[in-house]
Amino acid sequence: MVKDPNYFGTMLVYMGKADGMVSGAVHSTADTVRPALQIIKTRPGVSRTSGAFIMQRGRDERYLFADNAINIDPDAQTLAEIAIESAKTAKLFDIDPKVAMLSFSTKGSAKAPQVDKVVEATALAHQQAPDLALDGELQFDAAFVPTVAKLKAPDSKVAGNANVFIFPDLQSGNIGYKIAQRLGNFEAIGPILQGLNKPVSDLSRGANEEDVYKVALITAAQNLID
Ligand SMILES: CC(C)(COP(=O)(O)OP(=O)(O)OC[C@H]1O[C@@H](n2cnc3c(N)ncnc32)[C@H](O)[C@@H]1OP(=O)(O)O)[C@@H](O)C(=O)NCCC(=O)NCCS
Repeated sequence: MVKDPNYFGTMLVYMGKADGMVSGAVHSTADTVRPALQIIKTRPGVSRTSGAFIMQRGRDERYLFADNAINIDPDAQTLAEIAIESAKTAKLFDIDPKVAMLSFSTKGSAKAPQVDKVVEATALAHQQAPDLALDGELQFDAAFVPTVAKLKAPDSKVAGNANVFIFPDLQSGNIGYKIAQRLGNFEAIGPILQGLNKPVSDLSRGANEEDVYKVALITAAQNLID
């Protein structure tokens, strides 16, 4: 197994011979990430790792989206953890996190098990990180557009100002970031794997030299997270 470059690189990180690993330009996400899940494992208090993207347009517009890479159908506890870890990642990028738990419903406007999951995740995240500015369940427009927020979630401090967007599952998360990237001309930096004991990053197979450089910098910076 150690002859596989992803296992070899993961072992270098695990044994402290490297501070992080960047891989994935010629491997699938699953093959890149699996050794890290098996060997490096998640930090205490984090049960699932997740993948975040920094979405940047120009110099001033910067947001964090998660999970767009790993957890296919996260349960409420996993979703709460993704939100809390995403807020920590956001701070690394000078984003003062205001976290929106996204749904197709805003504050009870629709009823469905998928909405209940986001409501439960919001409650769990409040319990586990009481000081974090976080709210849900919110539709994207209520989370992002102040005028819509006033109508749909007038009492929310996050609605209309959110800059960290937590998607309810991987279908919406992966589709959502690619729409912002391709229709909205946002640069998508990531996925940044969150919650691991040591940093491992998975490049897209469409990555160019610039992407490798940026993801390597991010991987190094993740060593600064407490
Ligand atoms: C990430 C992924 C590969 C892990 O699933 P898997 O390969 O089936 O992994 P396994 O179920 O064999 O689990 C391997 C180990 O990792 C653990 N694990 C799985 N998912 C995990 C997660 N999100 N966080 C932490 N640990 C995880 C398992 O508990 C298991 O631990 P163990 O060896 O101690 O029992 C899988 O969730 C996946 O394919 N996700 C989608 C990736 C993708 O295609 N993304 C879209 C493009 S970016």
